[in-house]
Amino acid sequence: MIYKFYQQHIFPHLLNQVMQTPSLMDQRRKLMLPISGEVLEIGFGTGVNLPFYQNVDTVYALEPNADIYQLAMQRVHESAIHVQHVQASAEKLPFADNSIENIVSTWTLCSIEHLPQALTELHRVLKPGGTLHLVEHVLYQDHKALQHLQNLLTPIQKRLADGCHLNRYIEQALQDAHFRFKEKQYFDAAGIPKIAQRMLFARVQK
Ligand SMILES: C[S@@+](CC[C@H](N)C(=O)[O-])C[C@H]1O[C@@H](n2cnc3c(N)ncnc32)[C@H](O)[C@@H]1O
Repeated sequence: MIYKFYQQHIFPHLLNQVMQTPSLMDQRRKLMLPISGEVLEIGFGTGVNLPFYQNVDTVYALEPNADIYQLAMQRVHESAIHVQHVQASAEKLPFADNSIENIVSTWTLCSIEHLPQALTELHRVLKPGGTLHLVEHVLYQDHKALQHLQNLLTPIQKRLADGCHLNRYIEQALQDAHFRFKEKQYFDAAGIPKIAQRMLFARVQK
Protein backbone atom coordinates (compact mmCIF):
# COMPACT_ATOMS: atom_id res chain seq x y z
CA MET A 1 0.00 0.00 0.00
CA ILE A 2 2.83 2.41 0.90
CA TYR A 3 4.67 1.32 -2.26
CA LYS A 4 1.56 1.96 -4.34
CA PHE A 5 1.23 5.44 -2.79
CA TYR A 6 4.91 6.07 -3.60
CA GLN A 7 4.44 4.95 -7.21
CA GLN A 8 1.29 6.98 -7.78
CA HIS A 9 1.89 10.16 -5.81
CA ILE A 10 5.60 10.57 -5.12
CA PHE A 11 7.56 8.98 -7.98
CA PRO A 12 5.92 11.03 -10.79
CA HIS A 13 6.99 14.27 -9.06
CA LEU A 14 10.54 12.97 -8.45
CA LEU A 15 10.73 11.97 -12.11
CA ASN A 16 9.53 15.39 -13.24
CA GLN A 17 12.29 17.07 -11.18
CA VAL A 18 15.19 14.73 -12.03
CA MET A 19 14.39 14.78 -15.73
CA GLN A 20 14.88 18.56 -15.74
CA THR A 21 18.55 18.36 -14.67
CA PRO A 22 20.23 21.12 -16.76
CA SER A 23 22.70 18.79 -18.54
CA LEU A 24 19.76 16.61 -19.67
CA MET A 25 17.86 19.66 -20.89
CA ASP A 26 20.88 20.56 -23.08
CA GLN A 27 20.76 17.09 -24.65
CA ARG A 28 17.01 17.40 -25.27
CA ARG A 29 17.58 20.69 -27.12
CA LYS A 30 20.30 19.12 -29.28
CA LEU A 31 18.26 15.96 -29.99
CA MET A 32 15.04 17.75 -31.04
CA LEU A 33 16.66 20.50 -33.13
CA PRO A 34 16.65 18.75 -36.57
CA ILE A 35 13.26 17.05 -36.14
CA SER A 36 10.27 18.24 -38.17
CA GLY A 37 6.76 17.04 -39.02
CA GLU A 38 5.20 14.21 -37.02
CA VAL A 39 6.81 12.48 -34.06
CA LEU A 40 6.03 9.39 -32.04
CA GLU A 41 7.57 9.97 -28.61
CA ILE A 42 7.74 6.80 -26.52
CA GLY A 43 7.62 7.18 -22.73
CA PHE A 44 6.41 10.78 -23.03
CA GLY A 45 6.64 11.11 -19.24
CA THR A 46 5.79 14.57 -17.94
CA GLY A 47 6.25 16.17 -21.38
CA VAL A 48 9.62 17.78 -20.72
CA ASN A 49 10.65 17.50 -24.39
CA LEU A 50 7.69 19.45 -25.68
CA PRO A 51 9.19 22.99 -25.58
CA PHE A 52 12.26 21.75 -27.50
CA TYR A 53 10.41 20.73 -30.67
CA GLN A 54 11.05 23.55 -33.17
CA ASN A 55 9.35 22.41 -36.38
CA VAL A 56 7.06 19.66 -35.21
CA ASP A 57 3.29 19.91 -35.69
CA THR A 58 2.05 16.64 -34.15
CA VAL A 59 3.38 14.53 -31.30
CA TYR A 60 1.93 11.09 -30.57
CA ALA A 61 2.67 11.00 -26.85
CA LEU A 62 2.93 7.32 -25.99
CA GLU A 63 2.77 7.03 -22.20
CA PRO A 64 1.31 3.97 -20.47
CA ASN A 65 1.35 5.48 -16.96
CA ALA A 66 -1.66 7.76 -16.41
CA ASP A 67 -0.26 9.13 -13.10
CA ILE A 68 2.85 10.33 -14.93
CA TYR A 69 0.96 11.69 -17.95
CA GLN A 70 -1.21 13.74 -15.56
CA LEU A 71 1.87 15.88 -14.80
CA ALA A 72 2.33 16.54 -18.53
CA MET A 73 -1.06 18.19 -18.93
CA GLN A 74 0.07 21.74 -18.25
CA ARG A 75 2.91 21.52 -20.78
CA VAL A 76 0.51 19.99 -23.30
CA HIS A 77 -1.99 22.84 -22.83
CA GLU A 78 0.71 25.50 -23.12
CA SER A 79 2.15 24.04 -26.33
CA ALA A 80 1.18 25.07 -29.86
CA ILE A 81 1.90 21.51 -30.98
CA HIS A 82 -0.96 19.07 -31.43
CA VAL A 83 -0.32 16.40 -28.80
CA GLN A 84 -2.25 13.16 -28.93
CA HIS A 85 -1.92 10.97 -25.87
CA VAL A 86 -1.56 7.29 -26.74
CA GLN A 87 -1.99 5.17 -23.63
CA ALA A 88 -0.10 2.09 -24.76
CA SER A 89 3.22 0.36 -24.28
CA ALA A 90 6.13 0.38 -26.69
CA GLU A 91 5.95 -3.42 -26.79
CA LYS A 92 2.65 -3.18 -28.73
CA LEU A 93 2.41 -0.03 -30.81
CA PRO A 94 -1.00 0.91 -32.24
CA PHE A 95 0.55 2.16 -35.50
CA ALA A 96 0.78 0.68 -38.99
CA ASP A 97 3.99 -0.74 -40.48
CA ASN A 98 6.33 1.87 -42.04
CA SER A 99 4.10 4.76 -40.95
CA ILE A 100 6.21 7.01 -38.68
CA GLU A 101 8.93 9.41 -39.89
CA ASN A 102 10.42 10.28 -36.47
CA ILE A 103 10.48 8.39 -33.20
CA VAL A 104 11.93 9.97 -30.05
CA SER A 105 13.07 8.15 -26.93
CA THR A 106 14.70 10.09 -24.08
CA TRP A 107 15.62 7.99 -21.08
CA THR A 108 12.82 5.52 -21.83
CA LEU A 109 14.56 2.39 -23.19
CA CYS A 110 15.88 1.77 -19.65
CA SER A 111 12.32 1.41 -18.32
CA ILE A 112 10.66 -0.77 -20.94
CA GLU A 113 10.18 -4.24 -19.52
CA HIS A 114 10.55 -6.21 -22.77
CA LEU A 115 13.16 -4.17 -24.63
CA PRO A 116 13.80 -6.48 -27.64
CA GLN A 117 10.05 -6.69 -28.28
CA ALA A 118 9.71 -2.90 -28.10
CA LEU A 119 12.65 -2.35 -30.47
CA THR A 120 11.10 -4.80 -32.92
CA GLU A 121 7.92 -2.71 -32.76
CA LEU A 122 9.83 0.56 -33.28
CA HIS A 123 11.56 -1.01 -36.28
CA ARG A 124 8.21 -2.14 -37.67
CA VAL A 125 6.45 1.25 -37.47
CA LEU A 126 9.42 3.39 -38.56
CA LYS A 127 9.32 4.49 -42.21
CA PRO A 128 12.29 3.45 -44.36
CA GLY A 129 14.51 6.55 -44.29
CA GLY A 130 12.87 7.68 -41.03
CA THR A 131 14.87 8.11 -37.82
CA LEU A 132 14.75 6.96 -34.22
CA HIS A 133 16.35 9.78 -32.19
CA LEU A 134 17.45 8.78 -28.72
CA VAL A 135 19.39 9.68 -25.62
CA GLU A 136 19.61 7.06 -22.87
CA HIS A 137 21.69 6.15 -19.84
CA VAL A 138 23.57 2.91 -20.44
CA LEU A 139 25.80 0.17 -19.09
CA TYR A 140 29.48 1.18 -18.77
CA GLN A 141 31.54 -0.76 -21.31
CA ASP A 142 34.97 0.46 -20.21
CA HIS A 143 34.74 0.26 -16.43
CA LYS A 144 34.29 -3.22 -14.93
CA ALA A 145 33.75 -2.04 -11.32
CA LEU A 146 31.00 0.39 -12.28
CA GLN A 147 29.46 -2.20 -14.58
CA HIS A 148 29.38 -4.65 -11.67
CA LEU A 149 27.75 -2.02 -9.45
CA GLN A 150 25.16 -1.26 -12.13
CA ASN A 151 24.27 -4.97 -12.30
CA LEU A 152 24.12 -5.18 -8.51
CA LEU A 153 21.92 -2.13 -8.02
CA THR A 154 19.51 -2.66 -10.91
CA PRO A 155 16.98 -4.72 -8.88
CA ILE A 156 16.74 -1.90 -6.31
CA GLN A 157 16.64 0.79 -8.99
CA LYS A 158 13.79 -1.05 -10.71
CA ARG A 159 11.74 -0.86 -7.51
CA LEU A 160 12.56 2.78 -6.77
CA ALA A 161 12.31 4.11 -10.31
CA ASP A 162 9.40 2.34 -11.96
CA GLY A 163 11.28 -0.44 -13.76
CA CYS A 164 14.42 1.51 -14.70
CA HIS A 165 17.45 -0.71 -15.50
CA LEU A 166 20.89 0.76 -14.85
CA ASN A 167 22.60 -1.95 -16.85
CA ARG A 168 21.26 -1.91 -20.38
CA TYR A 169 23.66 -2.18 -23.32
CA ILE A 170 21.46 -0.09 -25.58
CA GLU A 171 23.86 0.06 -28.55
CA GLN A 172 23.91 -3.74 -28.76
CA ALA A 173 20.12 -3.96 -28.33
CA LEU A 174 19.63 -1.55 -31.25
CA GLN A 175 22.02 -3.54 -33.43
CA ASP A 176 20.24 -6.77 -32.50
CA ALA A 177 16.98 -5.13 -33.62
CA HIS A 178 18.61 -4.36 -37.02
CA PHE A 179 18.93 -0.59 -36.61
CA ARG A 180 21.97 1.08 -38.17
CA PHE A 181 23.65 4.10 -36.64
CA LYS A 182 23.58 7.45 -38.44
CA GLU A 183 25.03 9.26 -35.42
CA LYS A 184 26.44 7.96 -32.14
CA GLN A 185 28.12 9.66 -29.18
CA TYR A 186 28.83 8.59 -25.61
CA PHE A 187 29.22 11.13 -22.82
CA ASP A 188 28.95 11.46 -19.03
CA ALA A 189 26.13 13.78 -18.00
CA ALA A 190 26.90 16.43 -15.40
CA GLY A 191 24.77 16.45 -12.26
CA ILE A 192 23.78 12.78 -12.49
CA PRO A 193 25.06 10.10 -10.03
CA LYS A 194 28.03 8.15 -11.44
CA ILE A 195 25.97 4.95 -11.51
CA ALA A 196 23.67 6.37 -14.25
CA GLN A 197 25.96 8.99 -15.75
CA ARG A 198 27.11 7.29 -18.96
CA MET A 199 24.83 8.30 -21.82
CA LEU A 200 24.32 7.27 -25.43
CA PHE A 201 23.14 10.01 -27.82
CA ALA A 202 22.21 8.50 -31.18
CA ARG A 203 20.14 8.64 -34.34
CA VAL A 204 19.40 5.28 -35.97
CA GLN A 205 17.56 4.07 -39.06
CA LYS A 206 16.29 0.79 -40.42
C1 LIG B 1 12.68 7.79 -16.92
S1 LIG B 1 11.11 8.14 -17.59
C2 LIG B 1 11.52 9.25 -18.92
C3 LIG B 1 10.40 10.17 -19.29
C4 LIG B 1 10.64 11.09 -20.50
N1 LIG B 1 10.95 10.34 -21.69
C5 LIG B 1 11.69 12.12 -20.23
O1 LIG B 1 12.63 12.22 -21.01
O2 LIG B 1 11.55 12.86 -19.26
C6 LIG B 1 10.65 6.65 -18.44
C7 LIG B 1 9.26 6.72 -19.04
O3 LIG B 1 9.02 5.51 -19.79
C8 LIG B 1 7.69 5.11 -19.54
N2 LIG B 1 7.57 3.67 -19.82
C9 LIG B 1 7.78 2.64 -18.98
N3 LIG B 1 7.53 1.48 -19.59
C10 LIG B 1 7.14 1.77 -20.85
C11 LIG B 1 6.73 0.99 -21.96
N4 LIG B 1 6.70 -0.33 -21.89
N5 LIG B 1 6.39 1.63 -23.09
C12 LIG B 1 6.44 2.99 -23.17
N6 LIG B 1 6.82 3.78 -22.15
C13 LIG B 1 7.16 3.18 -21.00
C14 LIG B 1 7.45 5.49 -18.09
O4 LIG B 1 6.08 5.51 -17.76
C15 LIG B 1 8.14 6.83 -18.03
O5 LIG B 1 7.29 7.87 -18.40
